[in-house]
Parts: sequence; C-alpha cells; structure tokens
Amino acid sequence: MNSKGSASDAKSDARRDLRVGVVGAGVMGSNHARVLAGLPDVTLVGIVDPLPEHRARATALVGCRAFASLEELFDEGVDAITIAAPTHLHHEIALACITRNIHILVEKPVASTVEEGEDIVSAARSAGVTLMVGHVERFNPAVAAIKQAISGEDILSIGITRVGPFPPRMSNVGVVIDLAVHDIDLIRWFTESDIVEVQPQLSSAVAEREDIALLQFRTASGVLAHINTNWLTPFKARNVTVATRGKYVMGDLLTRQVTECFGFKPDGSYSMRHLPVGHDEPLRAELIAFLSAVRTGDVPAVSGDEGVASLAIAIRCLEQPPKPAANAARKGPRRIVG
Ligand SMILES: NC(=O)c1ccc[n+]([C@@H]2O[C@H](COP(=O)([O-])OP(=O)(O)OC[C@H]3O[C@@H](n4cnc5c(N)ncnc54)[C@H](O)[C@@H]3O)[C@@H](O)[C@H]2O)c1
Repeated sequence: MNSKGSASDAKSDARRDLRVGVVGAGVMGSNHARVLAGLPDVTLVGIVDPLPEHRARATALVGCRAFASLEELFDEGVDAITIAAPTHLHHEIALACITRNIHILVEKPVASTVEEGEDIVSAARSAGVTLMVGHVERFNPAVAAIKQAISGEDILSIGITRVGPFPPRMSNVGVVIDLAVHDIDLIRWFTESDIVEVQPQLSSAVAEREDIALLQFRTASGVLAHINTNWLTPFKARNVTVATRGKYVMGDLLTRQVTECFGFKPDGSYSMRHLPVGHDEPLRAELIAFLSAVRTGDVPAVSGDEGVASLAIAIRCLEQPPKPAANAARKGPRRIVG
C-alpha cells in the first residue's frame, strides 16, 4: 500500500478492508465513489479533483473526503485507485499510481493513444500491479446473458446499435472513441477473437468530430460484425444481435430483455424464448471484479491488453482516409424549430 506498505502486503492480508481512492469527480468518478462507498470490505479513502465545485459535489453526493491533488490521496495510503479523469490524463495518472505499487482500474478508453496504453500495460506488468480497464458494458446483465447464450455456439455475425442524442458536454472525441469502443470490446469478447479487418464509414454531420459511424469488421475467426453508432438519434438505443449456426440472439441493453430464436426447421419455423437476465448494477459488478482481482492477484476481467486492443481498432477506424467532399456541403447545426 502506498507509503504504508506494499502491493504484496495487500494481497497477503485478504481479510482487511481494501483502501480505495477515485481520481476524477466528474460523471463517472462520482459514480465510482458512490458504488465503492457501498461495497463491503472496502474503505473509500476519498476522491481527487482539481475543481473545488466538483469536489464539493462529490462530497455532498457520497459523503467521502475529497482531495485537490493525487499526492494528497497517496499520502493517505491506498491499495487501489480507479481513474475516471479525462482520457488524455489516464497515462500520467496511471504511471504515478503504478510507481507507488497501487492497483488501478482505468476507465475506458484506456488511454488517448495505443503507445500510451501499451506503456501503462508494460509498467503495470513490471511492477506486478493489477490493471483493469473499465469496459463496463461487459458487466451489463443483458450482455452477460447474451455471452452465455452464445457460449459454445458457432458465431456467424454480430450487429450492434448504440445511438442517442449529443452528450450534454462535448468532449474532444467523436462517437468512435466515446461509444463504439464499448462495442469493439464486446465484439472481441463475444467472439474471443481479434478484429483483423476494419471498414469504417464516418461522417461529421453536425459536430467537429465524427458524429455518425457505420463500422464493419471481420474477426480472425471469420465472424462479420457491424456497429451503427451516432449522436443524431433523439433517444438512446443500445441493441445487440448475434447470429450463430444454431441460434439468433437479440438483446436490448437498456430494457435488459434478451430473446433467442432456436430450433430452426426446414419449413422456416422456429422456437423463441426470453432468457433470464440479472439485476446487478454494471458498475458495481465491474468494481467488485476489479477488487477481487486485486485481492487474488488473478488476471482481471478486462485486462490492460484487451483495453489496448480495443483502442487500437477504434483508432484504426479513424485513420482510414476521410471522405470530406460530400460532407462539407452538408455540415451545419441541426434545424431547431419553435
Ligand atoms: N465506462 C463508461 O461507460 C464511461 C462513460 C463515461 C465516461 N467514461 C470515461 O470516464 C472518464 C471520465 O469521463 P467523465 O464523463 O466522467 O468526464 P467528466 O468531465 O464528467 O469528469 C472528469 C473529471 O476529472 C477531473 N479532472 C481533470 N483533471 C484532473 C486531474 N489532473 N486529476 C483528477 N481529476 C481531474 C475534472 O475536473 C472532472 O471533474 C473518461 O475516460 C471517459 O472516457 C466511461
């Protein structure tokens, strides 16, 4: 534990509370703190944010201590930290934690660049600290039900829709890094295979960065997959379909309804059933998985390598030559009436 022991001390004493901190008191960090404060065998040491108003908000919401700098959190002694600061700071903050033998969960995407992500992975490996990446969608009970339904099946194709309105605060990334990276991770996880071919279609219809993306992939195992994502749909929708040789599985990640079609007959008829889906809060399940990996020293549920691999595919989608000509004329704000 930082300044009061080592990472191996934390592992050897599995019975005591883990001392955990959060970096970043924004939307995600406040949620991390709220969930951590309610977990058994965890002491939430506090949350770090340079902005006084964000610290005050987190303190009011969670009732935890708040610090203006990472050093102040380190001085309290922590075993593990979850990093929910803006993505461009992940690398610097992660390395500062790893140097002090502090286990880390880094929000998705793991870093701004593949090189920075690889740097975090190799530093964590050398120091022997746990590094998990916050691909929280894997812990959505509907996603878990889909994963279970297709386990052992011969997967043929995957389709994922993740659309919605513009986020209230625009960050400096577009829909591929902000949204599609979730689904790139799901495609890799469902198929247990790497994505080897990428065919992106991107457009910046309203925003500076891409706000529409239609992404097609082929995995090394031969699965075809596509992601339809945008910030132009007035309501949120998150749907997954998976076709296997024996089943067609459909999941709504928001309503958490998962249905499978199976028993295909020569006359075109088939059977259909709703699958049981759990009720866990995904972030709670994710943080429990992270802390369990910290205690046991096992490979975490979403490894640093997996986080980097998904980021690399997202960046490949952005590196394809843009097709701006048609776009330029169409660009402009949405028409607002009334
Ligand atoms: N897993 C998910 O579904 C999901 C969803 C949203 C965001 N995220 C990720 O979480 C991270 C944070 O996103 P957000 O939406 O909460 O952003 P946000 O802007 O709401 O919060 C970021 C916070 O970090 C603070 N901050 C800035 N510099 C800091 C520093 N040096 N040290 C500590 N804190 C600092 C900011 O003041 C702000 O309060 C990003 O990496 C984002 O990609 C993940």
